[in-house]
This record gives sequence, structure tokens and C-alpha cells, in this order.
Amino acid sequence: MEWYIEAGVDVLLEDAPIDRFSETPPAPRPKALPRNAPTTPSPSERLAKKDNNERRQPVSPAVSAQPATLPDAAAIETAKAMASKAETLDELKDIMAEFDGCNLKRTAKSLVFADGNPQAKLMLIGEAPGRDEDIQGLPFVGRAGQLLDKMLAAIELDRDLAYITNVIPWRPPGNRTPTPQETEICRPFIERHIELVKPDCILMLGGSAAKTLMKTQDGIMKLRGKWTEIKTDNASIKALPTLHPAYLLRQPGHKRLAWQDLLSLKQTMDG
Ligand code: URA
Repeated sequence: MEWYIEAGVDVLLEDAPIDRFSETPPAPRPKALPRNAPTTPSPSERLAKKDNNERRQPVSPAVSAQPATLPDAAAIETAKAMASKAETLDELKDIMAEFDGCNLKRTAKSLVFADGNPQAKLMLIGEAPGRDEDIQGLPFVGRAGQLLDKMLAAIELDRDLAYITNVIPWRPPGNRTPTPQETEICRPFIERHIELVKPDCILMLGGSAAKTLMKTQDGIMKLRGKWTEIKTDNASIKALPTLHPAYLLRQPGHKRLAWQDLLSLKQTMDG
């Protein structure tokens, strides 16, 4: 088991092992319901039920490893429509918990929404939760998160003075990089999240967050340290891409570059 976990295979997809060498054909699986089966409410129907305080239970990976119920384009449209309805962070969190258009939700244990202070001037945005974050339901609580806390402390900040979230709220299995489709499906939620928090500054942690939010293919080594603006429907927010703490754990020699970025962030926030 340890060998599997080290290799990133730490998600249960079936209740029981399948003997693929058996000569007896496996018992047929229960038939999937047709897409528009009346017993399955659509995401928008579920949204309508939100007012009744209906809450999804955490997803159980063993019973939910089926393909997403919506094709990507429909999932993006549904995500946009649902995200735009959120008027508060609590509503956004509930809406994201209701959303069923992203496959990642099926293998994740938790919706990792955010941590820190929503009133803070600084919003930090990473890529996606890892194993520890999935277990605790909070962003940046594993080894990379511990380094992030030290980076914040180095410029006299902590989680009470910053608000932390990710582009993707569900852990990709084995911590793989989210696909472009998964990212586009989740984009409306992070964009609405930024609009609702309305921070003074955004620190984008790593290439994945920077590329998504800046809508560029450029790499993080080219982007880091250069201020940009992230435009939302209601604001234009100063944003700085920097190196991801997980990368800095692997490449500690690059901490000096991150330090330059942190000093620039502090200067802008104090200025
Ligand atoms: N890496 C991220 O990008 N986000 C987390 O929450 C944890 C690790």
C-alpha cells in the first residue's frame, strides 16, 4: 500500500478488487441512468433547491467514479450561470458544493474552498488541493502550506492578514496537474470568488494559477515578479505571479527569487 501511495495511487475507485485474469465474466455493473433521467435533478434544479438548505454529503470515491454527467461546454455554461448567482462567499461555497459538472469532485473527499480572512487586503491563489488539503478541507495545510506560512511570516503576514484559495477546489487524483478542461470548468468559480473578496492585491502561486488567471501560456519563470492587473466585472486588481511553495521545496535555490517577489508584494501593499 505504501508503494502505491508514494506513486500517487491513493484513491479508491471500486469497492472490491476486480480479477481481470478470471475466466468467469464479471457480474454486470448496474446500468448508468440515461443523461436526462427524471430522477436526477440537473445542477440548476439543485441550485433552485438551495434555498431549502439541502446539502450534499462529502463525495464517497468508492461509489462515484463515473464520468461527469455534463459535456465540458455545458459544464462551463452551468458553472458560469451558477457562479454568477452567488452574492456572498457562503453562497458561492454552497453553489460550488452543489455543482456536479467537474469530474474531480467524484474522487475528492472535500470541497476545499478557502482559508484565512475574507476581509484581508491580500488574496493568495494556488493551483489545487493536495492530499493533506483534501483530508482537512483547507488550502495549503501540507508541507507546501507550511512553507507558505513561513513566506508570509517573512513579510509580517499570516492567515489572519491574508485570504487563501485555489483555482481548482477539488483535489486531482494523485495530485496530477488539472487538465485544461477541468480548469475552464472551474474558472467561473475562482473569478466570482475574486469578485466577492475584492482584495487590493493578488499573489498567484505557481505557473498553473498564473496562467489561468492571466490567460497566458507563458511559463512562471517568465511571468514571476512582474505585476499585472486582473480585471473582474467590478474591479481591476493588482496581481503578482510568484513561484509555488511546492516548487521551492524541490528547488530551494530559487527561494531568493520568491523572496524578491515577496519584498515587491510588501512594498506595494505598504505603499
Ligand atoms: N498546492 C496548491 O496549489 N494548493 C494547495 O492548497 C496545496 C498545495
